[in-house]
Amino acid sequence: MELSGRARLGLGDNVLAQTAARLEAQGVAVTALTDTNPTRHGLSDPAVIAALAAAARRSGYYEPSPRGPLEAREALAARFGGSPEQYWLAASTSEAYAWLLALVADAGGVVAVPQPGYPLVEPLARLAGLSTIGYPLHYVAGHGWVYDLAGFGAAADRAAATVLVDPGNPTGAYLAPATAAQVAELALRHASVPIIDQVFYTYRLTDGGGEGPRGAELPEWDAPGAPLSFRLDGLSKLACAPGVKLAWIRLAGPAGEAAAAAKALDAIADTYLNVSTTAALALADILQQADRIGEALRGRLRRNLRALAQALAPAATVRRVEGGWVAIVDPVVVPEGADPALWLLEHAHLSVHPGWLYDLAENDAIVVSLLPEPEQFDAGIAALRAGLDRLAAS
Ligand SMILES: Cc1ncc(COP(=O)(O)O)c(C=O)c1O
Repeated sequence: MELSGRARLGLGDNVLAQTAARLEAQGVAVTALTDTNPTRHGLSDPAVIAALAAAARRSGYYEPSPRGPLEAREALAARFGGSPEQYWLAASTSEAYAWLLALVADAGGVVAVPQPGYPLVEPLARLAGLSTIGYPLHYVAGHGWVYDLAGFGAAADRAAATVLVDPGNPTGAYLAPATAAQVAELALRHASVPIIDQVFYTYRLTDGGGEGPRGAELPEWDAPGAPLSFRLDGLSKLACAPGVKLAWIRLAGPAGEAAAAAKALDAIADTYLNVSTTAALALADILQQADRIGEALRGRLRRNLRALAQALAPAATVRRVEGGWVAIVDPVVVPEGADPALWLLEHAHLSVHPGWLYDLAENDAIVVSLLPEPEQFDAGIAALRAGLDRLAAS
């Protein structure tokens, strides 16, 4: 059998994966500081399981509908704003991306993605027969991440769709309202459809404030004159429930364009009908738990972020994190030619994500998860500190 080019391209193992495989074959235990699966960190919530069990008892019928059951979409509109007609349920945000890429671009087309950014859209685009181009985000020490609007406009000009991640992964930077207005205007000018990924939106870590239900505070995508846009969110992050497999798309924009997009999106969703009735019927109950789940996890993330900065100083600095589940760490001393992530894996048996995985301009940067329970987290970052000290002295 001849594999398709789209399938073949994704099969290369990078040097880190090869090293990890070799260590595993040698029986060496590696400590992962990268894990962002909430179900492995004591974050599976019993109320989510109870909501699923209750919904399962009501799932004995099947009413195929491309947008998903109305009661689930009513719950989304009640929490996030808009009307139920603006929402489509999907099994995951990744699936929602795939549908939207099929909606907005023909094979050979281009999608703009943030650089640095989580390497999720590239394989999705490739499987859709598309390619990605990056638009730059710059880190300004002591301030945070800034959008390079000229670079953004140039990318949007070439791209059928432009992905915005709010807050970014791994940058942890929110799209400030003023910037959102500017990028919305550029997307409109260049006829590039914004796809706004908000899976980490509820995990705001700065200023100690809580984050309530949102929608009303994000008027830029609903404002008159705003471009056609698609917002994405889902239970994998909002309720720490990636196994439930439920996410959603929210459509907004000028009436005529939105109606045409809605019709096409209905046709795409109707082709798959991937959403489980049980998960959809549990959504209203799960959303009732989301504030509590989010509040508890924000406390842990803030605590771990503080512990990380303290444990690593002065061997490394931690970049400003406004929100999300990961932090970017800059080791202060890296011997010429060393790749910190590879060095830590080989010599300290610690797995961290290298900056290059996310197209971070600074190749020495590493990325760690803030999700583990404090005791496990503290042990991991103590080992990281020791590893960085050895790396600096090597
Ligand atoms: C920014 C971002 N969007 C989407 C996803 C995928 O979410 P889902 O589990 O809904 O496919 C991830 C996964 O980590 C992510 O980091």
